[in-house]
Amino acid sequence: MSASAAKPTQAPQFDVSGRVAIVTGASSGLGRQFARVLHAAGARVIAVARREDRLAELAAECPGVVPHVLDVTDEDGCKSLTDRVVADHGSIDVLVNNAGLGSNDTALDEDLDNFRYVLEVNLVSVYNLARLAARPMVEAGRGSIINTASIFGLRSSYPLPNANYAASKAGVVNLTRDLAGQWGRHGVRVNAIAPGYFSSEMADPLFADERGLQRVLRGTPMRRIGEEHELDGALVFLASDASSFVTGHTLVVDGGWSTH
Ligand SMILES: NC(=O)c1ccc[n+]([C@@H]2O[C@H](COP(=O)([O-])OP(=O)(O)OC[C@H]3O[C@@H](n4cnc5c(N)ncnc54)[C@H](OP(=O)(O)O)[C@@H]3O)[C@@H](O)[C@H]2O)c1
Repeated sequence: MSASAAKPTQAPQFDVSGRVAIVTGASSGLGRQFARVLHAAGARVIAVARREDRLAELAAECPGVVPHVLDVTDEDGCKSLTDRVVADHGSIDVLVNNAGLGSNDTALDEDLDNFRYVLEVNLVSVYNLARLAARPMVEAGRGSIINTASIFGLRSSYPLPNANYAASKAGVVNLTRDLAGQWGRHGVRVNAIAPGYFSSEMADPLFADERGLQRVLRGTPMRRIGEEHELDGALVFLASDASSFVTGHTLVVDGGWSTH
């Protein structure tokens, strides 16, 4: 083999320019960063969340990003979203199923409706949007669905009480495997990212509490929380052809938290 033939060719495989990407939960935290990163990489991003003002700020910062106000538990609204994206852009190449929430309720006190609601947002909506996006992807013979799971989908959140969240995220991990199995032969890949601790509206109250922060740092071999950009690589890898033979996988990005 000649020296030139042996040259690495990784960079083009990470290209997502021109790809049509829906990102849910794009109004803050990880989802806003996911939308920024895909936009910076040249993708056509549809940014989804309920807070219109936040989406407008993102669209102003990233010209070309299309804001789409939606509650992901609204089944008809989700169908309208995917229909509209296909009508306006011709395809859905990437779906980042990221919207989510959780609450630290103890199991003996939690209202069952609260548990149901967390499951509805974090798991049922992920399933619904994945199915809706998969239809045009299957027809096109390609697509990448990326679900935001969590380290709490792999381990319990002990000593924090988090049954609703942990159950929903464990569901996301195995939903990811099952859908990957169903759609692999159609060229549609389904993967998840399981972040450790990152600053966001959801996570910051934990870090603001000194005992909570110290517990997080003690449990994380790298002795820090993740920085905003530290999911960028995992996202672009899974969205692009760099991961063309990867499906059903949950990519853990946690500074080592889940090693023990
Ligand atoms: N931060 C971490 O350390 C961490 C770790 C592991 C996993 N995660 C996961 O990462 C994802 C993003 O969380 P985050 O940490 O970035 O928290 P965040 O800043 O609170 O973001 C949550 C996002 O979800 C959206 N959302 C919530 N309910 C929604 C609904 N019914 N319909 C539409 N959008 C909804 C919110 O937008 P609106 O309120 O505008 O609708 C917001 O954009 C979640 O799935 C979370 O479980 C986070």
